[in-house]
Formats: sequence, C-alpha cells, structure tokens
Amino acid sequence: MGRKRKKNIILKNIELNDAGSLGKALSKVEDQKIIFTKYGVPGDIVDIQVRKKRKSYIEGDIVKFHNYSKKRTEPKCKHFELCGGCSWQNMKYEDQLYYKSKEVANNLERIAKISPEKTLPIIKSDKKYYYRNKMEFSFSNSRWITANEIESDRIIKNKNALGFHKSGMWSKVIDIEKCFLQANISNKIRNYIKNRAIELGLDFFDLKIQKGDIRTLIIRNTTLNEIMVLVQFFKDSQKAQKLLADLKDKFPEISSIMYVINNKKNDTFYDLNVICYSGTDYINEKIGDLNFKISAKSFFQTNSYQTTKLYNIVKKFANLKGDELIYDLYSGTGTISLFLSKYAKKVIGIETVNDAVISAKENAEFNKITNATFIQGDVKKILTEGVKDYINPEIIILDPPRNGLDRSVIDSVVSIKPNKIIYVSCNSSTQARDIEIFKEFYDLKISQSIDMFPQTYHVENVVLLEKKCNE
Ligand SMILES: C[S@@+](CC[C@H](N)C(=O)[O-])C[C@H]1O[C@@H](n2cnc3c(N)ncnc32)[C@H](O)[C@@H]1O
Repeated sequence: MGRKRKKNIILKNIELNDAGSLGKALSKVEDQKIIFTKYGVPGDIVDIQVRKKRKSYIEGDIVKFHNYSKKRTEPKCKHFELCGGCSWQNMKYEDQLYYKSKEVANNLERIAKISPEKTLPIIKSDKKYYYRNKMEFSFSNSRWITANEIESDRIIKNKNALGFHKSGMWSKVIDIEKCFLQANISNKIRNYIKNRAIELGLDFFDLKIQKGDIRTLIIRNTTLNEIMVLVQFFKDSQKAQKLLADLKDKFPEISSIMYVINNKKNDTFYDLNVICYSGTDYINEKIGDLNFKISAKSFFQTNSYQTTKLYNIVKKFANLKGDELIYDLYSGTGTISLFLSKYAKKVIGIETVNDAVISAKENAEFNKITNATFIQGDVKKILTEGVKDYINPEIIILDPPRNGLDRSVIDSVVSIKPNKIIYVSCNSSTQARDIEIFKEFYDLKISQSIDMFPQTYHVENVVLLEKKCNE
C-alpha cells in the first residue's frame, strides 16, 4: 500500500540547485526536505516522482522537464543513464569541476569542522574522455533488455552481453557498443572478442547458475601505447584457445595477451595463475621520468595522464630538502615512493597486497632506485610493531582505499609525530572524518583537489597537515 501511494506522489516545478553526494542533483530549500534525483543538473526545473521518503530527505526520479539548465551539455554516450558510470556526462566540464570542489569543501566544513588555511584551485584534466588505462567488462547470457526493446513487440533472440553490470542488478549486464572512457582501440578489441566468441560458440557466463565458457575481459593500455588484454574463462577449451589465437592475428598491436581459468564462485583472479598467451606478461608505463612494469594483477592509478600531476602535488606539499625519511602508507605498486625517492633520503612503502609489493620492488630495480624499501603487510599491524631500523619519519604519506583510515592507524601516526602528513584520498567524506581526529594535533594547511575522473562525480583530494607547534 505504502509503496503504491509513494509512486503517485509527484513533486511539481522543483528547481534543482545543487549537486554532489554520489553524483545526484538536489533541491535544497530552507525548512524543507532535501530532494535528491539522478541525472538532473543544477538549474533544471523538473517534476519528480517520489521513490523514497525519509525524515530529512526525499529521493525520486525526474518525470518532466519545465526548464533545462544552462549548465547542461549533450552526453556523448548512447549508454548514458542506462550504464550509470559517467553520471555527470550531461553537465558542462567547468561545472563538474565546480561541484567537485564544492563537495570537498562541504565535507571538510561539515564533517571535519575545519577550513584549510589555503585551498588551491582544482586541477582539471586535459583529457575529458578516453583517459582510463583499465576497463573491466563482464560476459553474460542475460543481457539487460531496454524499455524500448520490451515495448516493441520484436522477439529478442540475442541475449548475450559484454559490458557493465546494471547497477543494483548483479545478474544483468548492459551490452556496451562504445565506451568513451578508454582509447577507442579498447572498443574495437571488446567488440571483436564479443562477436568472435559468439561465432565460435563460446557460452557467455550465466551469473545465476555460475556456468558458461567465458566470464570477464580486462583491457589495459598505457600512454606508451602498449596494450594488455586479459580474458577470464570458466574452463579451458579449443574454442577458448582459438579465440586467443584469432585475437592475436587480428590485433598485432596488443603487447600482452593473458588468460586465466576461473571456475570459482567469484570473478577475483588474484589467487589464480594468470597465463601469458602471447607477448610479455606486463606492459610499460611512464610517470614523470620513471618507468613502470604493470602486470595483470598490479594496482595502478587508472588515469595515467593525471597521475603525474597528482604526484607533483604530493611532492610540492612535501617540499623535500633531501635528508628526509618518508613513510608511504598504502603504497600499492610503490609509485609515490619511487616518484619521491630522488628527492629524499629514504622512503619506506607499506602495502598489504604481495603482488603489488613485488611489482614495487621490481620497479625500484628497473629504475635503479636504491633508497626505497617496500614492506608487505597490514599498515595497522606494522605501525603498531614499529618499522625496524627506520623510525621517526619526518613525513607520512597516506593513500588509503575509499573507506579511509582505521582509528588505530590514525593513533599510530599521531604517536609517531611526523612533522607533515600528506593525505591523498579518493573519498573526501572519509578523508574529512579522519582529519576531524588529526586536527587536535595537526593544522590543516592546504587542500587541493585534482580531477582524475572527468564525467563522473569522483574527485581525488590531497591535504597537507602540519604538526602543531606545541606537539
Ligand atoms: C588507493 S590505493 C593507493 C595506491 C598507491 N598509493 C598509488 O598511488 O598507486 C590503496 C592501496 O592500499 C592497499 N591497502 C588496503 N588496505 C591496506 C592495509 N590495511 N594495509 C596496507 N595496505 C592496504 C591496497 O591494496 C591499495 O594498493
């Protein structure tokens, strides 16, 4: 009953006047509930059908436009809204930057309850599209059928898809013809693999019963134009091998063709043997004047073009003299550590994923860097036990995953008393939550955002915290 009633509630002539939280546009009028809606742009005047009603907010869907915002632009992608990956593709780029900066400032003010002494302007991305160096696609025999297809009475024969999971519907995959986030060669490779797999009679994965021949595809590329393709099969077969052989013939420009046989209940292949079918088992990338080998399991920042700029912010905030000991916590493949090593006495990277640590060590050797040491383990545990031989770092760099820092890590960092903390974050709300704790001992000197993900609401933020004089 309740559900039915909500369906009928239409809020009329709502002016959207802000954007932010998880990419939603919102209408915020004093003394009224905040109304959130997807795919609106501030400045739009719309009718909204209520989907969810809570004490302090309402969520709903736009059912009619009365006025289109001047901040709007035509989305490039035909899968926009359906895919949901680039939720701000309908907003002009300068406005995307404005709302990203605003979100970071709001989080600092609302959650950390502090304003930085200085906020530097957000660094924009020169590439608005085609900037990602890694995309992951899923094969499914249960394609997402669009409303138009359902309405037309045509019989739907082709139910295979290679693309992205429909948000909130894990068993449905949206078939992607063209994605604008990775260089166009990625579209050509993906579409070729899909069509050839169908021709060869490979069964696309059935996510519900966990059966099929072929399950995922990862395409990585670098600014040096090297390409890695990793196909995940459920089982090995002649057809699977034929697909790889045909891929190699069709695209000689692919530097690395890899595959993995995964008959587990999930798509994670980090615990499986990845086999090199042809070429090298890594691809090369260049960040600043450093070279990196990226293997199939390596984490690497997904926008190489912006990564150099991001690491330059860290370097600028660190203002190194050459005699510093630095801890780089959550170091991944050691890219920040290696980037800074030339300007410091010693850098210690700490990272939990063993393969990432192996890559970091290899990359140090590859670049002839001898003053960076990488330790595998949980930051929490290693800080509690203390880093043998290297105590009292002047600077600690933090680059945790989206959920931010564990309270015990914050306590350990505070007790180590570095002069500076540089906190890099892809989630400004958890970053603000953590700064709220640091602020008793550290001043928030500078905050600077950088756009690593144009067309999405995601934003990377870097802050410099300096030890208070009395600490
Ligand atoms: C956002 S990435 C940072 C990577 C790196 N700084 C870079 O710029 O490429 C976060 C990293 O933290 C690692 N990680 C997550 N939890 C961890 C923990 N408890 N201890 C150590 N590393 C952890 C992840 O494996 C991942 O490599």
